[in-house]
Amino acid sequence: MAKMWAGRFSKEENEQVNDFNSSISFDSRMYQHDIMGSIAHATMLGEQGIIEKSEADAICMGLSEILDDLKNGRLAVDPSAEDIHMFVEAELTARLGDTGKRLHTARSRNDQVALDIRMYLRDEIEAVTALLEELLHVLCDLAKEHAGTVMSGYTHLQRAQPVSFGHHLMAYAQMLLRDRSRLFDCKKRMDDMPLGSCALAGTTYPLNRERVAEILNFSHVTENSLDGVSDRDFCMELAAALSILMVHLSRFCEEIILWCSWEFKFIELDDAYATGSSIMPQKKNPDIAELVRGKTGRVVGDLVTLLTMMKGLPLAYNKDMQEDKEAIFDAVDTVKLCLSTFTPMLSSMTVLKDNMRQAAAKGFINATDCADYLTKKGVPFRDAYKATGQLVAQCIKEGCVLETLPLASYQAVCPVFEQDVYDAIRLETCLNGRSVLGGPAAESVRKQADSVMKQL
Ligand code: ARG
Repeated sequence: MAKMWAGRFSKEENEQVNDFNSSISFDSRMYQHDIMGSIAHATMLGEQGIIEKSEADAICMGLSEILDDLKNGRLAVDPSAEDIHMFVEAELTARLGDTGKRLHTARSRNDQVALDIRMYLRDEIEAVTALLEELLHVLCDLAKEHAGTVMSGYTHLQRAQPVSFGHHLMAYAQMLLRDRSRLFDCKKRMDDMPLGSCALAGTTYPLNRERVAEILNFSHVTENSLDGVSDRDFCMELAAALSILMVHLSRFCEEIILWCSWEFKFIELDDAYATGSSIMPQKKNPDIAELVRGKTGRVVGDLVTLLTMMKGLPLAYNKDMQEDKEAIFDAVDTVKLCLSTFTPMLSSMTVLKDNMRQAAAKGFINATDCADYLTKKGVPFRDAYKATGQLVAQCIKEGCVLETLPLASYQAVCPVFEQDVYDAIRLETCLNGRSVLGGPAAESVRKQADSVMKQL
């Protein structure tokens, strides 16, 4: 493709330099947004009398046709074009002649690309949000179903106190809800329309920037032309939000991987979401969860790419910034891929309640409740704590649990113990007694799920 700037240059282009400089292989995915932006710009140029109304109409028509042809595969993107902006403009000029050459009046690719990425990413944020909401629905449904499914809660990966599987799941729902709100925030700050910044210093033409913003559904216009073309905060911010989201998915995956092991066996993944081994016939591996955990590194890497790419750049536009796209596109693509695979994996898994219950029964997770039992009968907590510790030690020595230790042993340690201690330390009692706001009692878990659903 002949260079747009051939007038200034006396040498033929070098093919390798051409390829090195080109972004068409990764920015052509923004073609719809590029064309919509150009239609808005041309419409405004016509309305302002900067170009003839009839020419503006012809440009808009030509651009719509190009959009249609690209969508329907009648037109292919030329891989030798420098970028999608140059390609569309060249195609328009090939179709309309001189009229096409008027489109770029009072515009630069610098503000054009700043506009296109924003438009592209705000659509992608909606797509990610929709996938996230689907996952949140699945989580709330599962949590309600398992509001009373007793499970040990862990600290330091040691059995700690009773929770329910539903409560555990709702913890992830809270994280994902914050991710959703981060995406909203990010979209809000992306809502400034940069066109009119031109190359860096605005323009002498009487543009109506607000009109372009209105056509393209932006709430505001950017207020400084240098910032308008050189701001990529929205890419970094989105990559940061997506990285945190992936960290959440990764933690969840880590637990799923543990729960699938024979050592836990709290869940079983559907065959469709697990894989076998090429040599070990007995294996059923949680590869999907492992891949989501692994891909977290990629998205965090994309964030680091963006931060590092921006950190030394002087104002305003620098070509370094072309590197923004592969990083942020990869982050968005990866998150979408992970969410859309993770959600059905979760909704199709089998929860092995009995195994959870058995594991919960073995870990003295009712020891705190045993101490609380004494405290509620007037024993100072530290004394109650010590007495219960002695009982646990005795159980470990004798190979029993608090539930099966005879009353005489209890009373030998502390005479305040009575028969009703056995009811107080039943796991179901311990669980449902934790009805404090945000606690794991079945009723509280159902409330948590309702509250999340309401926020969706
Ligand atoms: N392909 C470029 C990018 O993605 C478009 C802007 C080019 N501007 C320029 N002055 N070379 O950043």
